Amino acid sequence: AVGGNFYELVGGKETFRKIAAKFYEGVAADEILRPMYPEEDLGPAAERLQLFLEQYWGGPTTYQELRGHPRLRMRHNPFKINPQAREHWLMHMRSAVESVGLSPLHQAEMWAYFDRAATAMLNSFDE
Ligand code: HEM
Repeated sequence: AVGGNFYELVGGKETFRKIAAKFYEGVAADEILRPMYPEEDLGPAAERLQLFLEQYWGGPTTYQELRGHPRLRMRHNPFKINPQAREHWLMHMRSAVESVGLSPLHQAEMWAYFDRAATAMLNSFDE
């Protein structure tokens, strides 16, 4: 059938797997973000992000089954997310989104979401 939701239109699971993997490659080398992760292995964090994004964009609801309601702002409370951390996060997400080669409209829609969501996650204005 023609059509489908955003998740299907952008390539399904494989697209979100690539975005999360590429994003965490950036985090691994980031002097602001990397210290926020106590674990050596960023693989499980990449998987949580992948599953969340799949669910958000209309794919399988595995995230909710494993992690419960997202409550993302609350889950980010332990981390100091100031404008600089937000910019670093968005910089790596920008490369990740660009790396999968979406159509301009899909890319713009996804980007608008990340920009807005990253603003919603701000919880500090300290340097
Ligand atoms: C988790 C940082 C924005 C989605 C985390 C974690 C950190 C972090 C340190 C813990 C890693 C883990 O154990 O999973 C940040 C910073 C942000 C930011 C510095 C800057 C703005 C966002 C945004 C989204 C997001 C905009 C969604 C669009 C997630 C998800 C998790 C997570 C889904 C896993 C939640 C869970 O199930 O425990 N983030 N994040 N984050 N973040 Fe962010």
